Amino acid sequence: MRKTKIGAVPYVAPIPIVLVGADVDGRPNFATVGDCAVLGIRPPLVVVSLSATHHTTRGVLAHRAFSINVPTESMVALVDHFGVVSGRDVDKALLLPSEPGEVEGVPLAADCPISIECRVRSVVDVEHRRIFIANVVQTHVASNLVREDGGRLCVAPLAEIHPILYALDGGYYGVGAKIGTSHESGRSFIPADPR
Ligand SMILES: Cc1cc2nc3c(=O)[nH]c(=O)nc-3n(C[C@H](O)[C@H](O)[C@H](O)COP(=O)(O)O)c2cc1C
Repeated sequence: MRKTKIGAVPYVAPIPIVLVGADVDGRPNFATVGDCAVLGIRPPLVVVSLSATHHTTRGVLAHRAFSINVPTESMVALVDHFGVVSGRDVDKALLLPSEPGEVEGVPLAADCPISIECRVRSVVDVEHRRIFIANVVQTHVASNLVREDGGRLCVAPLAEIHPILYALDGGYYGVGAKIGTSHESGRSFIPADPR
């Protein structure tokens, strides 16, 4: 495959778009965020990278906690709006209802089918970024998307959640077809047992 250098572009796509929430001066606020990732399942760790100047960042620093809310495709207009206006100028709580989580200062967006409560364990400053490494404390999933599998609670297939994906072409995308299953798709590479 012939490749062309395009410069230092962190093209790891698609990027799931989330709404990061925190109470700021007692008022819930949410920012649209692409720079959010899972750092581990056990223990459950996440990372969120926010600009130091965001209104939301002030709330996260004050409470050392935040929520990650997974919006759905039908919310794309609101999500885009929350990515261009600041809670400093617009009361976002009027546009997105929320309820308090278990952790103080953490609002859970009522219209998002998944809300994850996170407690900050360390903050890394890189230039204008505040990078929050956090423990997941509790995960709230819309009850119609929760399945029971052998006594264990799990979440419905991704296609039923309709998350918003983003790419560095500036486009918002929906989820495509399922193309494989973990721990199964690679089995064709395992040589057959000669016995
Ligand atoms: C698609 C998209 C992705 C974004 N991702 C991030 C991000 O990862 N980190 C960040 O700090 N800002 C990100 N932003 C910008 C913030 O959402 C935006 O500056 C917002 O107005 C901040 O709101 P606040 O001041 O109320 O916190 C993104 C915006 C859009 C439209």
